[in-house]
Amino acid sequence: LLRPPVPRPLAGKRVLITAGPTHEPIDPVRYIANRSSGKQGFAIAAAAQAAGAEVVLVSGPVDLDDPAGVTVKHVESARQMLDQVQAALPADIAIFAAAVADWRVAVEGEQKLKKTSAGMPPLQLVENPDILATISKLTDKRPPLVIGFAAETEHLIDNAKSKLARKGCDWIVANDVSPSSGVMGGDRNTVHLISKNAADNGEITVDSWPVMTKEQVATELVAHIVKSVTDKSL
Ligand code: CTP
Ligand code: CA
Repeated sequence: LLRPPVPRPLAGKRVLITAGPTHEPIDPVRYIANRSSGKQGFAIAAAAQAAGAEVVLVSGPVDLDDPAGVTVKHVESARQMLDQVQAALPADIAIFAAAVADWRVAVEGEQKLKKTSAGMPPLQLVENPDILATISKLTDKRPPLVIGFAAETEHLIDNAKSKLARKGCDWIVANDVSPSSGVMGGDRNTVHLISKNAADNGEITVDSWPVMTKEQVATELVAHIVKSVTDKSL
């Protein structure tokens, strides 16, 4: 028996995705990190691959299997993530789902920091590069559709709207990551898709989705990408 052909609406499209936390070394045995599991980004990579896209996934340290058929670049720090993202360009669609550590220590200890009678080690922090903003603001290699996430614990929609403007991306997937939401590390996500529509004089629309599994969020996001690619013939 013949099977019906599998629709591959993103065939020929190159999709770049970041996922997971980053680890910022303090010394050879310690690092700064966050609670991201990488599940949402990995689910998006799998959904884009299933839709026929060629997918490059740049992931921080996670406890997940590489999705089948996806090129995975494993990194530790934000700076390594930025390098791999730049190396993966050009792309048709870029999705920044990683929970990038905002800060790293200014000077990484070459040896393990020791307790001394002089008191605590002063940890001076410096800001990491903003990968999403860097890629959104490229003039030559900017992917035609750039999607960021906004992880917020309060003022979700307002904060996400200002993030959209500040970062220069096209869409923001806003999600509540307060401890009571269970999103960080959990299997479900409640998101709002905030998009800037160039065709409507840059009007901002907010589309609130019901609570879904991270796989369902991924499938829905890919469906929106397919629609946008088809409408705009990106
Ligand atoms: N992001 C990034 N590089 C960074 C920080 C954030 O690429 N150094 C991306 C994230 O992957 C996400 C978006 O920017 O797509 C928003 O991340 P978020 O942490 O919510 O925003 P920040 O700009 O870091 O602001 P804050 O953490 O202060 O809310
Ligand atoms: Ca941040």
